[in-house]
Amino acid sequence: MHQRSIYQKFRGYELLDKKRTEMALQAGEDRAILLGLSMMICSVMMYFLLGITTVRSYAESVWTAETVCTVLNSTITDDINCSYSCGVECWRSSKFPCLQVFVSLNASGRVALLSHNEDTQEENAECFYVPKCQRNQAVMHALIVDISERMRAQQQVPCFHDPLERQEAVLLTQRYGPGAVFQSLFWPSCMLAGGLLIIFMVKLTQYLSILCEQIGKVSK
Ligand SMILES: *[C@@H]1O[C@H](CO)[C@@H](O)[C@H](O)[C@H]1NC(C)=O
Ligand SMILES: *[C@@H]1O[C@H](CO)[C@@H](O)[C@H](O)[C@H]1NC(C)=O
Ligand SMILES: *[C@@H]1O[C@H](CO)[C@@H](O)[C@H](O)[C@H]1NC(C)=O
Repeated sequence: MHQRSIYQKFRGYELLDKKRTEMALQAGEDRAILLGLSMMICSVMMYFLLGITTVRSYAESVWTAETVCTVLNSTITDDINCSYSCGVECWRSSKFPCLQVFVSLNASGRVALLSHNEDTQEENAECFYVPKCQRNQAVMHALIVDISERMRAQQQVPCFHDPLERQEAVLLTQRYGPGAVFQSLFWPSCMLAGGLLIIFMVKLTQYLSILCEQIGKVSK
């Protein structure tokens, strides 16, 4: 009688223990699924934020053909007005020298103005480089002179042009090249794959444990 009650108590503990383990497992699985789902949601958001800006910019850019450009000359022309922020709703004007770089395209022999990238081209089609506007004009001047000398020292540079010639200007670099587009799609894809893998593993473990239980029942 006494022995039996001890046995029952022990059995009770064992059952309770089993239940606790099951609950802990369940909580762990829930957390893993939650992690997997948040990784998937995060990756979709990254696709939208990174992918759409870079892919769209890359797809819309007309400067798609790469060639070699021969630098003809690199000269500083006139000053360009710009404005910089000096606090909330406060703007002051400053100016920077405009650098013009003429190149000749190796592909066609056409002479064109060179721009640093799509951003520079949008901001000022005449100048090779548009520095960030600031009060200190000497700093901007020194920067432009340095770039000018570097361009002069180079005879040939790789450059991007519009094969259909809708845009006459040529670019030295693409804002988002194929490498940037690849990266902006690669990392979200990794995260999506990671999230899917976690959920797949959890589901697989659940399926296997159910299978084990059924085999256990059958063999009994
Ligand atoms: C630079 O070269 C272009 C094209 O040959 C020419 O039109 C321009 O006048 C030249 N600029 C200077 C300052 O020599
Ligand atoms: C640039 O600003 C100066 C005054 O700071 C003004 O006299 C000049 O006309 C401006 N130039 C252009 C192109 O807006
Ligand atoms: C430039 O073009 C010429 C023929 O037009 C070609 O022989 C040469 O290899 C080209 N240079 C480069 C660097 O592509």
